Amino acid sequence: MSKNLIKAATDVREKAYAPYSKFHVGAAIRTPSGAIYVGCNVENAAYPEGTCAEAGAIAAMCAAGEYEILEVAVIAGGNRPVPPCGGCRQKLSEFANGDVAVTMVAAEGGQDVTTVASLLPGAFSLAYLEAGITVSDS
Ligand code: THU
Repeated sequence: MSKNLIKAATDVREKAYAPYSKFHVGAAIRTPSGAIYVGCNVENAAYPEGTCAEAGAIAAMCAAGEYEILEVAVIAGGNRPVPPCGGCRQKLSEFANGDVAVTMVAAEGGQDVTTVASLLPGAFSLAYLEAGITVSDS
């Protein structure tokens, strides 16, 4: 895991907008170009409209025209590394191979490394959609 990626996630965590949960999260992803894209959680008075840090980083990556994730770092508060939520596991798996490393950092110290496949075994993917789409002749 590159220290740069953890530093980028740590820095963007400062920008989190989390007045409701007070739980600040930062995420950083590295792509094949070497670029690092970052995101923080952005909450909303209409609670379900809030977005996770990982989603923000993925959106920034796509906005830059990149669609492949090689490495992920996520940092959140507390003394235990926080794993990405279920929705973010699916979002990450859209752009990352199963063996992509996800480093989870606890702001108060400690970190764990896992993989996208460990976080989401048997992920739903484009392959299932393609296999299920039938084109009629008429
Ligand atoms: N959160 C993230 O940003 N990423 C995750 O993977 C877990 C949860 C945010 C969403 C919400 O703003 C706050 O943490 C509390 O759930």
